Amino acid sequence: MSAPDRDRWNEKYAKSKPSSMVQPDEWLVEAVRLIGEESDGLQSSTRTLDLACGRGHNAIWLAQQGCRCDAVDISANGLELARRCATANKVEVGWIEADLDDWTPSRGEYDLVAVFRFLDRETVPPIVRAALRPGGWLIYETFAAAQLERPDSHITNPRFTLSPSELLNLFPDFDVVTNREDVLPDRTVQRFLGRRRSGGN
Ligand SMILES: C[S@@+](CC[C@H](N)C(=O)[O-])C[C@H]1O[C@@H](n2cnc3c(N)ncnc32)[C@H](O)[C@@H]1O
Repeated sequence: MSAPDRDRWNEKYAKSKPSSMVQPDEWLVEAVRLIGEESDGLQSSTRTLDLACGRGHNAIWLAQQGCRCDAVDISANGLELARRCATANKVEVGWIEADLDDWTPSRGEYDLVAVFRFLDRETVPPIVRAALRPGGWLIYETFAAAQLERPDSHITNPRFTLSPSELLNLFPDFDVVTNREDVLPDRTVQRFLGRRRSGGN
């Protein structure tokens, strides 16, 4: 499945112009603020991981907040755009070109994992569980099933959308701070913020 995915995304990113503007997702910014209310927030020692990072804007923003960030994507072209943007903004991110179908992070290495606009029910939950230390945070946003009803939707396959309670079921070992559906001008999404319970597998 992943070779056609890689080719499709490489083609898409090959048509994109490099940009030095960093535009993090608004849910990332809000969730990081909520994390700051519940804990010491992001520190220079905080290790973060952005899964399926694409052009890397969320990873670059996290690095700009002062933490140490790694980011994974299957597309070399997406990562090249991300590298250029990070260089222009004078921040360092550990860019990892890998297929999440067969990539394993070092166990418990990360304090925060972010996933935006990517859904693979088989691979993402075990990667998140392996990557996050107990007490670590998961910030997730992707399309809600209600996105399919929108006349402006570019998504037609229900496989890439979430039911309202699905992230709760995919991550039962998390204390949930937020699990909500947001109808935005351009998309309808599920937004999740949870903290991995100590003692979870
Ligand atoms: C919709 S984009 C989202 C990118 C970024 N998270 C964002 O929100 O801007 C989906 C990303 O998933 C990546 N991707 C797709 N299949 C993948 C896989 N098997 N392993 C790693 N990355 C993958 C694509 O290259 C693409 O960058």
